[in-house]
Amino acid sequence: MRRLAATLAALLATTACTTMETPPMAQQSRAGEAMVSPILTTPEAVDSQTYARPQVARVTHVALDLDLDFEAQMVGGTAVLDIMAAPGAEEIVLDDKGLTIARITDGQGRALAYDVGQPRAGASEDMGAPLTIRLGSAPGSGPRQIRIEYAASDAAALQWLNPEQTAGGEHPFLFSQGQAILNRTWIPTQDSPGIRQTWEARITAPKPLDVVMSGVQQGEAEDLGNGRRAFRFEMDKPVPPYLIAIAAGDIDFQALGPRTGVWAEPSVLPRAAQEVGDTEAMVTAAEALYGPYRWGRYDMIVLPPAFPYGGMENPVMTFLTPTFIAGDRSNNGLVAHELAHSWSGNLVTNAVWGDGWLNEGVTSYFENRIVEAVYGKKRAEQEASLAFANIQETLEEVGRDAPGTALHNDGEGELVGSAIAYDKGHYFLRTVESMVGRERFDAWLRQWFDNHAFQPATSRMLYDDMMANLVRSPAEAERLMLREWIFEPGLPSNVKRPDPAAFAEVDAAVTAYAGGGTIPTGWRGWTSAERQRFLDNIPKQRTAAQLAALDDALGLSRTGNNEELFLWLELALANRYEPAVRQAETFLANVGRGKFVRPLFAVLAKDEAWGLPIARRIYADTRPTYHAVTQAGVDRVLGRND
Ligand code: BES
Ligand code: ZN
Repeated sequence: MRRLAATLAALLATTACTTMETPPMAQQSRAGEAMVSPILTTPEAVDSQTYARPQVARVTHVALDLDLDFEAQMVGGTAVLDIMAAPGAEEIVLDDKGLTIARITDGQGRALAYDVGQPRAGASEDMGAPLTIRLGSAPGSGPRQIRIEYAASDAAALQWLNPEQTAGGEHPFLFSQGQAILNRTWIPTQDSPGIRQTWEARITAPKPLDVVMSGVQQGEAEDLGNGRRAFRFEMDKPVPPYLIAIAAGDIDFQALGPRTGVWAEPSVLPRAAQEVGDTEAMVTAAEALYGPYRWGRYDMIVLPPAFPYGGMENPVMTFLTPTFIAGDRSNNGLVAHELAHSWSGNLVTNAVWGDGWLNEGVTSYFENRIVEAVYGKKRAEQEASLAFANIQETLEEVGRDAPGTALHNDGEGELVGSAIAYDKGHYFLRTVESMVGRERFDAWLRQWFDNHAFQPATSRMLYDDMMANLVRSPAEAERLMLREWIFEPGLPSNVKRPDPAAFAEVDAAVTAYAGGGTIPTGWRGWTSAERQRFLDNIPKQRTAAQLAALDDALGLSRTGNNEELFLWLELALANRYEPAVRQAETFLANVGRGKFVRPLFAVLAKDEAWGLPIARRIYADTRPTYHAVTQAGVDRVLGRND
């Protein structure tokens, strides 16, 4: 019954948009429901990073029953998929990267023929291979089930930590990272952001470990009497499959507010809970801006430092790095950001990764609005100002006409770091807001979320939506430069620049320091954004004596703020500052967050004579402690390809 309800919900979600044309018959199931969101039939919504052909047959629900084997570092069990097939469909294609498949059967236990095909020519290795399953008798008849018995032992999504990589040091830990296309390494499904699926899971783990997922836990864990417990989870809203996530370890929970809470290892939990103490206020602020939070609870887990990102917006369970904990909530833009994804990303989702700005840029804008509501205008404007500097720096580096600097990326240009999708995306919405006024802009963004909730979206759709629901005249559209912002490289001339007053004091201090070496006296009273601005903008070439003086006066190497520590280490290593090497080594041995780790290796690698050997020596030890995405990033930087 519940399964049926979930399937119906998925169907409703894909047919909810009344303004869309009815899709052609071939894309409808026998019952006449839309097979896929009609959006997916437009050329710009075709995901080149999946082998799935959802118009022929698509997954609507995933039921996992998996055992976590920490000794073998393997998950194994079954995935039962509910699928919907078009009339005459004979097969369904899933994404598979390295899964060991034992058997595939239909709902009645009859074996189904299947085949793991060849990767498409020129496809990146990460894409894996198409897993094609013959649907057997009665092709094309309505929803049905497929049961896959499998194991995943070398899954790039999963990182299995030894006890030494945890704060407690006693128990192993596991977490997953699905975005963008890593979940196909542990879940056999259609791994494309436009193919939304409800899911449920039963996961067994050895005692005393707890398991959390990006779904709502069902009841208490069941003691299986063999030293293991079973945990059940359910996500009854259709989500893109990159949002299915799991973590398991020796973790405890602390409530923060009526619908918010945080998980972490016991020794980390008090600091973690203190740091994210504004979360309930952030949810309230976000709702006041853009409508109800639709996912029930908002919990977070603060993971061990090997987690490769700052945060990941897994529904009902944001995953966070512990490196954002500074003791003063100064890096809480991260929490605002992951929370904002509950609208931009998780509710309205980029149909293809080339439109990633629809997730990350809209979220960065929304993040800034939450920061403004909770921490005030000054902090929000300072953080926005750092984002602007990031855009400028990137454009100077890659050129203002580099195709990868357009928000909509059609695969021609290489994606250029985070500055375009995140910061140019943020500045696009900020510019539009400033030109049409907050009231009109907020009403528009809110209806965008409401009208596309639980749907995939493209750049073209957002453009059309602005033209239909925001812009009042052709002249206004011209002034807004919407098309340039979304589809053209560079930075449109109407950009709403940051207020120079936000950093007036720091910028004066930078000038004084650059001129005569005057070390700022106000440092201790500065916000973290101000300190970052200073460290970003002082002259890049420094002597050992100058670095020592700076460190002595400002205590940079002893800071408890990892954003500041990172900037210090980067500056110091770029200048062959020997005293920083040991500290960098310790940092790189403990932290796996790509945003810190990659640039530190890069700055060392740039200096072939001095730095590269140091980088190689450190990486030989630290590589096995990193998640696959951090490994891949550093491998590129150090020119390794194994
Ligand atoms: N969804 C991203 C993380 C991500 C992006 C994973 C692309 C895989 C591919 C997450 O919301 C994010 O943006 N994290 C940032 C946070 C920051 C912008 C506040 C991070 O990890 O640094
Ligand atoms: Zn994000």
